[in-house]
Amino acid sequence: MRRILVSASENRWLRERAPRYRFIRSAASRFLPGENVEDALAAARRLADHGIGTLLTQLGENVTVRAEAEAVVAQYLNLIERIRVASLPTEISVKLTQLGVDLDREFCFSNLGKLIGNLPLAVDHTPGESIEKTLWIDMEQSKYVDVTLELYGRMRKTNQNAGVCVQAYLRRTKKDVESLISMGASVRLVKGAYSESPEIAIPKKKDVDENYFRLAQMLLAPEARHEGVRAVMATHDPQLIGRIIEWAASQGIARDQLEFAMLYGIQRSEQLRLAREGYRTGVLVSYGTFWFPWFMRRLAERPANVLFLVRNLFSR
Ligand code: FDA
Repeated sequence: MRRILVSASENRWLRERAPRYRFIRSAASRFLPGENVEDALAAARRLADHGIGTLLTQLGENVTVRAEAEAVVAQYLNLIERIRVASLPTEISVKLTQLGVDLDREFCFSNLGKLIGNLPLAVDHTPGESIEKTLWIDMEQSKYVDVTLELYGRMRKTNQNAGVCVQAYLRRTKKDVESLISMGASVRLVKGAYSESPEIAIPKKKDVDENYFRLAQMLLAPEARHEGVRAVMATHDPQLIGRIIEWAASQGIARDQLEFAMLYGIQRSEQLRLAREGYRTGVLVSYGTFWFPWFMRRLAERPANVLFLVRNLFSR
């Protein structure tokens, strides 16, 4: 099921046609506050009122012409300005394939530079606390990991306010995390959302969960904190979150030093609970019209979501 849904996310024919169906649009709306930037900003404001920070991302990937990537940069610059004016505790997260990495990596790097150069300075996650705003880079399919880490490393040399996502399902990630720790990086740890071969990715969920926990321990260890690592545990997995919280407490890590992130519309009560209990909590809010591949990946993460889609078909 997972493989079928992830393949559907990569199918051009479906990408163009499926969003025309109302029941699909309606099911996707559970995970999106709306298609417009205003919808995303309004969601960020509502979450901020509950002490929850946000990461905004404009949906889109694998652009095929430079002008498209330039338009994406212009839209993000406008978004950054609106976040600044609204004083929201909001950062942004981008995909390199949306900034033109498939076309020309130097072009993509210069697009990243334009965004990072315009970031507002500080974000208040919790009252009285502020940390520098970060431009986050999503991690896409395994063929993009090398280029993503290379451009990230180059970006960090001139600008510390950049963060990158790493995926616990990849066998290589432990090594990548070691080198990210040595550069004091900002790292968002996820399980991984794409379909990868067993040579590249750990196939069993139980083993991925275990690897996630071990990577979380590395990112929260005293050496990593000494290097200035900012670690964001991006997962909805209640068991894993509980384990990380318990372990961090046993290491004397204060609650406000632990940061969690989830996706909009998933485990809302857990998001509120974490924020209430004093953990840094963020929600990734996606918006835009190009939501089909992203929605398919959300279905793949939880088969029960497919039932939700089917229910929408019959409740019209
Ligand atoms: P897992 O899949 O084990 O789910 C644990 C529990 O969470 C489930 O039992 C269910 O209750 C709930 N849940 C999880 N997904 C759900 C869904 N779609 N609908 C409803 N309930 C759900 N991936 C990637 O490859 N590159 C990236 O850059 C990012 N970025 C990113 C940012 C943030 C903030 C988050 C939270 C996630 C990502 N991801 C990602 C996605 C990530 O790789 C992963 O696919 C999802 O987070 C689901 O995995 P969990 O860790 O939640 O665990």
